[in-house]
Amino acid sequence: MATDSSRPFFAAQHLAKHFGGIQAVAEVSLDIAPGEIVGLIGPNGSGKTTTINMLCGALNSDGGKILLDGADLTGMAAHFFARHGVARTFQVPRLFRRLSVLENLIVPALSDRRVKRAAAEDMADDVLEFLRLSHLSQDYARSLSGGQQKLLELGRALMLDPKLILLDEPFAGVHPRLLNQIIEHIKALNERGMTIVLVDHNLDAIRSVVRRVAVMAQGRKIADGSVDDVLRDPAVIHAYTGSRKSNGRAGS
Ligand SMILES: Nc1ncnc2c1ncn2[C@@H]1O[C@H](COP(=O)(O)OP(=O)(O)OP(=O)(O)O)[C@@H](O)[C@H]1O
Ligand SMILES: [Mg+2]
Repeated sequence: MATDSSRPFFAAQHLAKHFGGIQAVAEVSLDIAPGEIVGLIGPNGSGKTTTINMLCGALNSDGGKILLDGADLTGMAAHFFARHGVARTFQVPRLFRRLSVLENLIVPALSDRRVKRAAAEDMADDVLEFLRLSHLSQDYARSLSGGQQKLLELGRALMLDPKLILLDEPFAGVHPRLLNQIIEHIKALNERGMTIVLVDHNLDAIRSVVRRVAVMAQGRKIADGSVDDVLRDPAVIHAYTGSRKSNGRAGS
């Protein structure tokens, strides 16, 4: 969709995080235009999830700033980010395995006391219909396939009606049949105007969804640009393969 790059919608500036002696993230900045969809890739352990955690307030950055649509969210707790329309999914789905698919959507929504159960149920029905999971609404979450669990994880984030959604490896471990469905859902959300950050190792899938990609290596952002330019960048090739040449599938 068309983006208005003149207005800074989401700006992360100079984010950093260390865990004891490990500098997991250092000096990472990311500007995202409204309605934009940006890939965030990098080798294992390069700091992508830690960055996502800071972008949604699950972790506070050691420094820097986070600005969303004019609001300064720096240092705020995750529920404050959520209230401002920032939602995320987890690399490993965090579902209530012994609750139904429907309850998995409703229970987190009800943690906001302003949300009434009937309204949450209506919204959950809409989310299930969008994700084509309505037929599974009464099934236990634990009975779902890996890909269906990823879909439900996405659904839980959608219950927040987010403006910005941070997706941490939505394609990992997903059967190819469902992979295409998840790709279509992400595209549809973006077409509705949702701003999206998409972390994954599946570069073919990333390439089919985003035009812009940022690359992390050893906690730093080493490239940010069009997918083709970035994957030709020698620093990116080196980060993924050491001395080997790129085959266009750096992270797969
Ligand atoms: N809670 C933590 N305590 C200590 N070290 C951590 C913690 N979380 C992450 N790390 C370390 O920070 C670095 C970055 O980890 P992170 O999970 O952000 O990488 P990632 O890019 O998401 O990797 P992957 O692609 O494997 O998911 C790694 O060295 C990791 O071991
Ligand atoms: Mg990760």
